[in-house]
Order: sequence, then structure tokens, then C-alpha cells
Amino acid sequence: MAGIKNLKDLQNTEYGLKKIFDDAEDFLPLLGTDYVELYVGNAKQSAHFYKTAFGFQSEAYAGLETGIKDRVSYVLKQDKIRLVLTTPLTNDGAINEHIVEHGDGVKVVALWVEDATKAFEETTKRGAKPYLEPVKEEDDNGFVIRSGIYTYGETVHIFVERKNYRGLFLPGYKKWESHYNPAPVGLKFIDHMVGNVGWGEMKEWCEFYARVMGFAQIISFTDDDISTDFTALMSKVMSNGNGRIKFPINEPAEGKKKSQIEEYLDFYNGPGVQHIAVATDDIVATVSAMRERGVEFLYVPGEYYDDLLDRVGAIDEDVEVLKKHGILIDRDEEGYLLQIFTKTIVDRPTMFFEVIQRKGAQSFGVGNFKALFEAIEREQANRGTL
Ligand code: FE2
Repeated sequence: MAGIKNLKDLQNTEYGLKKIFDDAEDFLPLLGTDYVELYVGNAKQSAHFYKTAFGFQSEAYAGLETGIKDRVSYVLKQDKIRLVLTTPLTNDGAINEHIVEHGDGVKVVALWVEDATKAFEETTKRGAKPYLEPVKEEDDNGFVIRSGIYTYGETVHIFVERKNYRGLFLPGYKKWESHYNPAPVGLKFIDHMVGNVGWGEMKEWCEFYARVMGFAQIISFTDDDISTDFTALMSKVMSNGNGRIKFPINEPAEGKKKSQIEEYLDFYNGPGVQHIAVATDDIVATVSAMRERGVEFLYVPGEYYDDLLDRVGAIDEDVEVLKKHGILIDRDEEGYLLQIFTKTIVDRPTMFFEVIQRKGAQSFGVGNFKALFEAIEREQANRGTL
């Protein structure tokens, strides 16, 4: 590597940083999260819940009325977040089997790409298990190409190429007209989505995201960071090259009692998406609105706020207001973040949501984990599953 005197020279060599960075990004450039699809037992009623409680807007629909025979899908939107709720209409297909096995949960984390055929080729040649061969779907608004691969458990990533499509969502969907349109609550985009995997499987799945999708590990927590007197887990955060897609991966760790991750794995019957973190730029307003509409959040004991300002320094918000809502605060080198967690939003104690507002901080609230997990344990104790 002769002749390299500074960073710029290094970036311009074939061994340089630029090349490393380009390699990491090149084979799978991701533009963002395209949609998240949940398989649910009753999409019509789930859609009502996400509109009423979470402020999602009616966007698109596919089902018997649009020529689909075996399922119904409702598409809901809030700013950049697109949720798809799908229910099977027959009892003999893969969607129904998924619900029998897992209950309501996330099946698809769809990623927006420039070239879905290339995304499929690049990931499967690096070892991804194919889920959907590249397929072209079209209607009067143009065409979309989608392809897909499996990730942990029965969860899949679908790559969506929509540069030649002007329609609402995907070919085959029609506009969903509804007279019931509660206002949004200020949810903006998906900040991160967390997967729970089995005992000792975290490393394997982090390596999957590194090898198959070109992600890099940005943060790691051991069970020393994330344990209480009773429960423990380990977590690593994987991110794509432009930082738009962040997937923390959790695995259970040994504690005195059952890890909350193990409880999830028991009730979901395997690995799956644990929580979807959605960003807001006014967490107090968003959480107030969600509470009024019936969303239940984890209870945070008042003592958490006693020495809050000593721990996190000066913040813009009124501590009493944060305390009233149970909003947690954590600080890192770059700033601070505010976050709160809903109780599980399905009857099986599996999936929940996080609402997060970042004020500079790019981390995930490790300083809150202990307080958070103690709150989760109280819920587990109530269920008799601790
Ligand atoms: Fe999170």
C-alpha cells in the first residue's frame, strides 16, 4: 500500500476504506423499509385497532372484491410507515398455518430496493434461503418486482422494486375508502425492528445479516448490561450501510427465572419479531394521544425519575410530564433519546411496540434496560410466566 499519505489516498486505493464501504453497500443497497406485513386472525378488526389506537390511515385493500380468493389484506399508513394486515379466507394454506403456529405476528419485513432481482441473486448466492423467486406484478399503474428470502424463524424479507409503479401500494390493491378516519398520532417512520432468536443463536443471525445482507454490527450488549435479579438476555444491533435499516437481535440468557425472551419463544413457538420501534418528533403528544385511544404502556415506577437529571443531565422536557406517562430517557455521547414501550398488543405475550424520539442519540437506551425489564417482569409475574 505504498504512496498512501492520508485518508483520501487510502480511500482511492483498491485496498482503501472507500472500497470496503462500497463492497459492504454495493451488493444490497436498501432505500428503506417498504412495509411490514402481519398475519392476523381477523384483519378487519385488527385494522380498526391500528386506526383507532395507533392513528394509522386507511390506504389500500385487496380481497374477494378485488379478485383475491384466499386472503384479505388491509394496508394502513402513517407518514412513512406502511402496515399490511392479512387474514386467510381458507383453512388449508400457509397463512393459516402461520397463525395456528404463532398467533398474530409479523411475517414480512419488506425492504425497498432499486433492483429486486439483483437483491435476490446477491443474497441467495451468499446463502439466504429463498422464499419468493423474483416476480413481476403489474396493473394500469405500472409494475413492481418483488423477491424474498427467509430470515430467523418463519419471518421473511421481501425486496420491493417499485421504480416503475405509480399506484397506491402494489398491483391488485384498490384504494380503501372508509368513513372512519381517526387522526394520526405523529408516528413518522420505523426506527428499528427487533428479532428474538433461540438460545445461543444470536451470533448465527448476526453473521447472517453481515454475510448475506452486508450489514455491520454497531452495538453489542452482554447479559451483564441487560440483566435484573431475575431475567437476562443478550443483544446485538445490526445496521445496513446507510443506517436506515437497524435490526437488533436478542437471545435469552440464564437468569434466576425465565428470560422474557424465552417467554416470547415459548408463546410464539420460535424466533420472530419482538417489537417495532416507531419514531415521533413529539413523544409526549404522541403518547398522550395513544393513551387516550386505549393503548396500554408498561408501568415505570416513580423512583425511576428521582435521580433522572443526575443520570441524563439537562433535558428539554418537563420531568413531571415524562413521569406521568412513564417515558424513559437515556443519554449517549451524541445526545439523548426518549422512549416508551407498549404492553404486548396481542393476547399471546409476544409482540409489542416502542415509541422513540431521538434528540441526537443514536443508541438504543441501554441505560433504561434495567428499569424496562423490571417493568416487563412485573407483567410476566402477573401472567405466572416468570
Ligand atoms: Fe427497541
